[in-house]
Amino acid sequence: MKKLLSTMLVGILALSLSACGNKATTATSASDDGAKTSVIGVAMPTQSLQRWNQDGENMKKQLEAKKYKVDLQYANNDVNAQVQSIENMITKKCKVLVVASIDGAALTDVLKKAADNGIKVIAYDRLIMKSPNVDYYATFDNFKVGVIQGQYIEKKLGLKEGKGPFNIELFGGSPDDNNATFFYKGAMSVLQPYIDNGKLVVGSKQKDFTTIAIQGWDSAKAQARMDNLITSTYSKGTKLDVVLSPNDSLAIGIVAALKNAGYGGANKPYPVLTGQDCDKPNILAMIHDQQSMSIFKDTRTLANKVVEMVDAIVQGKQAEVNDTKTYNNGSKVVPSFLCDPIYADKDNYKKILIDSGYYKESDLK
Ligand code: BGC
Repeated sequence: MKKLLSTMLVGILALSLSACGNKATTATSASDDGAKTSVIGVAMPTQSLQRWNQDGENMKKQLEAKKYKVDLQYANNDVNAQVQSIENMITKKCKVLVVASIDGAALTDVLKKAADNGIKVIAYDRLIMKSPNVDYYATFDNFKVGVIQGQYIEKKLGLKEGKGPFNIELFGGSPDDNNATFFYKGAMSVLQPYIDNGKLVVGSKQKDFTTIAIQGWDSAKAQARMDNLITSTYSKGTKLDVVLSPNDSLAIGIVAALKNAGYGGANKPYPVLTGQDCDKPNILAMIHDQQSMSIFKDTRTLANKVVEMVDAIVQGKQAEVNDTKTYNNGSKVVPSFLCDPIYADKDNYKKILIDSGYYKESDLK
């Protein structure tokens, strides 16, 4: 009897201990909202551009600070490699996928697989097209990026005050990136009226998006197109006053072509030139009067927003969005959170980029 009693006691003790244990485990994951057990897959397009390295690092840092496990992969701008790494993340049973796509329309099948496995998907910076399996989109207001570039040109040239005519050339981003047409339309919403009234003259007459788009956001392709424009239109003394470049990787190629053609001398200053991302080489180009401005999209802010979305998803809640109309991916309107872009130029870059801790002064040497 005594033996039976003691066996029962040990049993009860063991049971209650294991219940405590269970409770403790449940309590930990509840208080961490499941973070400790969740792997988050982060698929970035390429390491060849500075911004994506920063995006990746910020995402990893901020997710790990919240105790998530992070599987961060880059795909060297290779669509198949990106599909492959997303498949691996699905196999590893990640809880949420965060994807900055290379070709926005190439992920339909792999995202179907993700959905079949109960994995939620956040499109990061670039909208994923032609898929119902995109739960959220976090980005900067892409139309506004173009508007700010257009307004910068408007102000620099004094177009509102009736100055002109000025000669302009237009560049567009990669046609497989949904953002590219938003940047173009935003900029043209400001510039088109001046083209219509003759205050801006597109010397080459190349205006429509398909003609001016640069596949893969490739600097070398932008340089080659600028070389051609200089030869065809600006080699016989016609002055080039302004170039609309949607981002910094294109601006780098454009500056290289202009430099080779002798721009930068006393009689041939660089044209007004826009950009986006505030990559370090481009800030240097601004300091040296080769590029006029760049849009600053603080990747810390975007990462922060996406981590908030991940948290909400892991807790089974709705994530906060501020736009439910703009981003139709051909299959659905994706609930979006749009962060606010601003611009940096030679006059304000110290305040915006250095005082905010984004760069150190020594980074910009
Ligand atoms: C991003 C830009 C970037 C470009 C090239 C776009 O989708 O929004 O910030 O410059 O891709 O990487």
